[in-house]
Amino acid sequence: MLKLGVNVDHIATIRQARGVAEPDPVAAAMLAELAGAHGITVHLREDRRHIQDRDVELLRLTIKTRLNLEMALTDEMISFALKLVPDAVTLVPEGRHELTTEGGLDVNLLRTTLKQKITRLKQAGIVVSLFGEPDLEQIKTCHRVGADYIEIHTGTYCEMRTETDRLKQLQRIELAVSAARKLGLGVNAGHGLNYQNIAPIVAMKGIEELNIGHSIVARASLVGMDRAVREMLALLKG
Ligand code: PXP
Repeated sequence: MLKLGVNVDHIATIRQARGVAEPDPVAAAMLAELAGAHGITVHLREDRRHIQDRDVELLRLTIKTRLNLEMALTDEMISFALKLVPDAVTLVPEGRHELTTEGGLDVNLLRTTLKQKITRLKQAGIVVSLFGEPDLEQIKTCHRVGADYIEIHTGTYCEMRTETDRLKQLQRIELAVSAARKLGLGVNAGHGLNYQNIAPIVAMKGIEELNIGHSIVARASLVGMDRAVREMLALLKG
């Protein structure tokens, strides 16, 4: 079955809005796991706007599934990951003024640094995934620099407003999944996925895990984390 990684960043966004101790993303992660999530994802951003170091450290100690740490390709973050040893690291581009991650990493541009950093992370026993566009050149480079996985950026598909445009983006994603699999890369996907737009992605063969944050936390704020995760898992089962 397609796996679900729940991103709990925006539980921390609510906490940081008040600068207090609640709601706690660690508690949210536990509820998501109890509801059946296969993994927990957090993005430790350089500006610490939501997830804090303490959250990742506690998650490392408490979660029972898999911890996927999303982070930028900086020396600070690489040292943090090497100390913490999450199950997986997903490298993402990061801009201070963006509301959320905008687009995939430019793996072609970064390939020399990526190769070095990926080797270090893998030597520490960390599975490495690169957040990339569904683009054949980028996928080939992900393979060449030694990544274990590509997480295909689904954001453009999610933003399309017409059926024709959506279909075009789905075809791009489908081609990318099959190219990545042929090269031996594992394939995850995420960004912008919600209860309404997920079905065609679920129907694709070759994707292992979907990482979903905003839509699950949004629904959880109204119906609770348990129900929000279970409803998403039901959609993943098709
Ligand atoms: N995957 C990656 C690499 C991301 O950066 C994000 C956003 O933090 C997600 C998945 C989840 O996106 P969303 O919050 O839109 O579900």
